[in-house]
Amino acid sequence: MKITQKLKLEPWHHGYYNTRKGLNGGKRMSVLYEKLETCYKYYQSVTDFVPRVGLILGSGLGGYAKNMKVEKEIPYGDIPGFPVSTVQGHDGKFLLGYIGDVPAVVMKGRVHYYEGYSMQDVVLPTRLMKRMGIEILFLTNASGGIKKGFQVGDFMMITDQISSFVPSPLIGENVSELGERFPDMTHIYDPDLMNLIRKTAERENIAIQEGVYLQTTGPNFESPAEIRMYAALGADAVGMSTACEAMAARHAGIRVCGISCISNMASGLSDEELSHLDVQAVADKRSGDFERLVTKTIEQM
Ligand code: HPA
Repeated sequence: MKITQKLKLEPWHHGYYNTRKGLNGGKRMSVLYEKLETCYKYYQSVTDFVPRVGLILGSGLGGYAKNMKVEKEIPYGDIPGFPVSTVQGHDGKFLLGYIGDVPAVVMKGRVHYYEGYSMQDVVLPTRLMKRMGIEILFLTNASGGIKKGFQVGDFMMITDQISSFVPSPLIGENVSELGERFPDMTHIYDPDLMNLIRKTAERENIAIQEGVYLQTTGPNFESPAEIRMYAALGADAVGMSTACEAMAARHAGIRVCGISCISNMASGLSDEELSHLDVQAVADKRSGDFERLVTKTIEQM
């Protein structure tokens, strides 16, 4: 991974958010909410498109645009204060358009905690999609398989998650405009959306596993001992994204679903050493079925 851009650290990248007299007519407003509103104002200045579904593309889904009718593209770099990926090959932009008849916003590229952004910045895109109007968020990623019986190239519908190894994106002053201080996380992944994915996979004849996704900070892959610990804790797959986005989405009342492509067996579970290139290669190889499963599911949302 080559770092292509130097991070510009803002005061709110580390530590807690403060309130201050903001843009909101002198009313006290959190720095976080003000930043979100600045992004949303920019969005409103370039489009009046209102998406209903948000889709975050993980590794292997970079060519997704061909599955939708794109009406508008917004490069992340054009949005004031918006986090931009520093990882080569992750050129970021929002694609606005239709998947079937469903108005959708698709994120081509996401930022990760390991890039040095605060968790609040990592989930800013999710919150911005809420402001755009989404009711459903579809999360995708590549991950390392932990569960016995999983194989490289499998798809795993995420049924629940463990995010205890990364800071909560909800730490800091609660932005009540987004959600409540102590949000319930009993059903992070929506049972009805899970059923829709199951049915779609069956109809499309695409095999799908199910399991619990665990998020680490990355950027290093895990040690075999860590993977044994995660297995003992109930994790079925491990990755460096997604759980924080799911949590921020639930906080904001968005219904969430997710599918992971098992791009490798996790550390110590196979003889292979782990590499980012191999992860991408497997995800790319499975992109046809992955795109079809995601598209056919969203078309019914
Ligand atoms: N570990 C963490 N993140 C990952 C992996 C893994 O094995 N594979 C893809 N993303």
